[in-house]
Amino acid sequence: MHSLSAYEVAPGGRLLGRLRVPGDKSISHRAIMLGAIADGITRVSGFLEGADALSTRNVFRAMGVRIDGPESARVTVYGVGREGLRAPPGPLDCGNAGTAMRLLMGLLAGQPFASELVGDETLMRRPMRRVADPLRLMGARVETDGDCPPVRISPSPGLRGIEYRLPVASAQLKSALLLAGLYASGRTTIIEPAPTRDHTERMLGGFGVRVERDGLRVAIEGGQRLTGCAIDVPTDISSAAFFLVGASIAPGSDLVLEHVGMNPTRTGVIDILRLMGADITVLAESEVGGEPVADLRVRSAELRGIDVPEELVPLAIDEFPAIFVAAACARGCTRVTGAAELRVKESDRIATMAEGLQALGVAAEPTDDGMIIEGRPDGAAFTGGRVEAHGDHRIAMSFAMAALRASGPVSIGDTENVATSFPGFVRLAAGAGLEIAETGPGAA
Ligand code: S3P
Repeated sequence: MHSLSAYEVAPGGRLLGRLRVPGDKSISHRAIMLGAIADGITRVSGFLEGADALSTRNVFRAMGVRIDGPESARVTVYGVGREGLRAPPGPLDCGNAGTAMRLLMGLLAGQPFASELVGDETLMRRPMRRVADPLRLMGARVETDGDCPPVRISPSPGLRGIEYRLPVASAQLKSALLLAGLYASGRTTIIEPAPTRDHTERMLGGFGVRVERDGLRVAIEGGQRLTGCAIDVPTDISSAAFFLVGASIAPGSDLVLEHVGMNPTRTGVIDILRLMGADITVLAESEVGGEPVADLRVRSAELRGIDVPEELVPLAIDEFPAIFVAAACARGCTRVTGAAELRVKESDRIATMAEGLQALGVAAEPTDDGMIIEGRPDGAAFTGGRVEAHGDHRIAMSFAMAALRASGPVSIGDTENVATSFPGFVRLAAGAGLEIAETGPGAA
């Protein structure tokens, strides 16, 4: 089913002023999940009021957890304790949220009741075996439909800790196994092929759970209890990334993004853009609830093409749609390799971005594990035209920014899912200077 929401973005312009993007999606999901199984109350501020995080809230409400809000981005979770979740009355709908489904698989594997996880059209096509396989090694009873949802979980006689080497760098997989490990006997050790976002580990620490980290190994002892706490969610660097790119490519831009989450496992986009010559200054660094935050000032700059270092790929995995737009405006060629995971995100982001970039006149060549983009540094880097977001929020927002350097209007189809991660994107982007209008059911 395709939505009719679309963006019409006028060409040119620049981004100016100060703005605050919504709360971090990864952290918002985790705040609900850990708060739900904690003893006592967890108060969350800065929560993402987007559809994905609300799906997670609804799933836990369906398992008997009282959750108030969000109201003004504040949520209160009345934890039921590690054994307090109740059997849900029906399938648990994760909507578009891969993070919700994968982390829930780990959490539900250790519960004494059966459950079924479903999602929207996109999520029902995403790979889940990567989580189901190691959970089965732990003794879980998990079934998928081939590699895909629905995921059916039956009570297991008991989970046991394992040592597991992740076949892909995936924070969702790592987090699912940590959550299952909480309910397992003994110790669960996970070895990552490369560092990935560590919000689960940090937040577990905030709830009083001991998680041990030694290089690429992370371990958790089963049976630990969580104690409710206060969580201040920083804003999402993945949402800030569209503005980092937009202000970099639009001449005359000068923008400050406030209170951005600067967890070092998430800042690959800043490193990559700086390697390309971006002018990004980190201001007002502080720490909230175990997560570093800062204001970011970004001014337009002449970008150059680079070979993106592969070790930065997992640290910027959600930002490649925006980085590809930056590459199209850079002098010379940008090559991205080692990013095959992009093919299994909310859309196949290598295919959808290559298709859209080509539709806007860019020489973009998709490869198995990345993209080669020949930039056009002078004047318009894109023609006007029509691109499809294929229901992928990050594709829609990336092409909205491309209009800043286009020679004609850019229309973007199927933009409804922007609300999964970035409610208010159109209003915020328009306030900073993007000439963007929304049409169809999502229009305000
Ligand atoms: C996420 C991990 C990443 C990322 C996703 C959020 C998380 O997925 O792309 O948007 O919150 O753990 P993978 O674990 O599949 O890399």
